[in-house]
Amino acid sequence: MDNNKCGCWAVLRRGVSGANCKSSSSTESANTIPRTSLVYDAATETRYLNASNRDLCPPNEAQLSSDNPDAPSSDGKSPCQLLQFSFHELKSATGNFRPDSILGEGGFGYVFKGWIEENGTAPAKPGSGITVAVKSLKPDGLQGHREWVAEVDFLGQLHHPNLVKLIGYCIEDDQRLLVYEFMTRGSLENHLFRRTIPLPWSNRIKIALGAAKGLAFLHGGSEPVIYRDFKTSNILLDSEYNAKLSDFGLAKAGPQGDKTHVSTRVVGTYGYAAPEYVMTGHLTSKSDVYSFGVVLLEVLTGRRSMDKKRPSGEQNLVAWARPYLADKRKLYQLADPRLELNYSLKGVQKVSQLAYNCLSRDPKSRPPMDEIVKVLTPLQDLNDLAILSYHSRLSQQGRRKKRPDGTQHHLASAQHKSIRDSPLNTGKQRCR
Ligand SMILES: Nc1ncnc2c1ncn2[C@@H]1O[C@H](COP(=O)(O)OP(=O)(O)OP(=O)(O)O)[C@@H](O)[C@H]1O
Ligand SMILES: [Mg+2]
Repeated sequence: MDNNKCGCWAVLRRGVSGANCKSSSSTESANTIPRTSLVYDAATETRYLNASNRDLCPPNEAQLSSDNPDAPSSDGKSPCQLLQFSFHELKSATGNFRPDSILGEGGFGYVFKGWIEENGTAPAKPGSGITVAVKSLKPDGLQGHREWVAEVDFLGQLHHPNLVKLIGYCIEDDQRLLVYEFMTRGSLENHLFRRTIPLPWSNRIKIALGAAKGLAFLHGGSEPVIYRDFKTSNILLDSEYNAKLSDFGLAKAGPQGDKTHVSTRVVGTYGYAAPEYVMTGHLTSKSDVYSFGVVLLEVLTGRRSMDKKRPSGEQNLVAWARPYLADKRKLYQLADPRLELNYSLKGVQKVSQLAYNCLSRDPKSRPPMDEIVKVLTPLQDLNDLAILSYHSRLSQQGRRKKRPDGTQHHLASAQHKSIRDSPLNTGKQRCR
């Protein structure tokens, strides 16, 4: 078997219609399927597989893109870097899709951990070669297939340090699988909402910045891409908490020419989608900015965008948070209590302001992603921790008013105090 197999996916000019959805004959094995191109069906807004264009890609181009953050390919595109796996190879790579190698489950099926040899598609022994994540789509019809195609289409061409790397794919009979670089720390969703140890503030800022850079890259290219499914479960983290966007199944090319928006059916995730998009189906890059604002709020508060377990007025995060965002004196009531005042005061201020702007009801008032990157970048270096300010205020108070019984104020109780004791609140405000 040729270890340098490279599936090359050339996107034909968008707007070409009439493609047939059939991607491969069921008798063909993965290794004999012709190189495939994607054609766009304007009537259904779907890019279908069109088996043709054999040998579009010279074998020596079958290399993975570099991780160098300063040197993504000039327009971030490079169509000929995907490996084509056989089902058998991926079955072996994941130990027969063993249940204990499951990394997670999404709408389209399970994600397994696996190992492959370097520079090829051959399976490797667990713990050797390259660790990968193998997403296996449930054979549940056209919808999953469409998104599988979109994923290969976009991620096969777009390369950036803040986008997860698609290593290859498998298309064999009814099987549709995707092979990604393995992201050691899983999703931001896991870290924010499932782990017992709270994610430190500095990591939250680093992750928000990385994800913002990913979106800025998508929006800023010569052919902008709208991501359409920005949410914490689609932000994956490597060992150093670098954030990478995954799941391009719903991504869409931005408006062409003098068009201001793309009209689409409304898809995405409830709780993250921009209101004007849900109402009209008009999609712009500002829809992603709104979703970014929702994720910023989740990062700030440690609350889910939708949480049915909370009291009725608190289930929708944006609706609950708006009054706090709009009032500078209330901002600190938003900070995740699990951080126990271990956050930057200025950082919370800036992040809240940013979230407020991203969540503007008027899409035109939302900032572009490159501006968001500029606002978040300096927040990484802030050391003005609320807990320090709290301590100094306590000691000032202590000096002013010595307790008659000589008791000390204990740190643990201070940390668990209500947010009304937020470090920027003055005594006067607390009385209100
Ligand atoms: N490349 C990867 N490396 C490590 N873990 C991954 C990788 N891709 C996915 N996962 C894990 O698998 C889980 C499921 O991912 P998946 O994208 O299928 O679903 P989801 O994002 O949770 O939901 P949705 O279907 O709505 O996108 C993720 O939450 C993550 O924990
Ligand atoms: Mg996902």
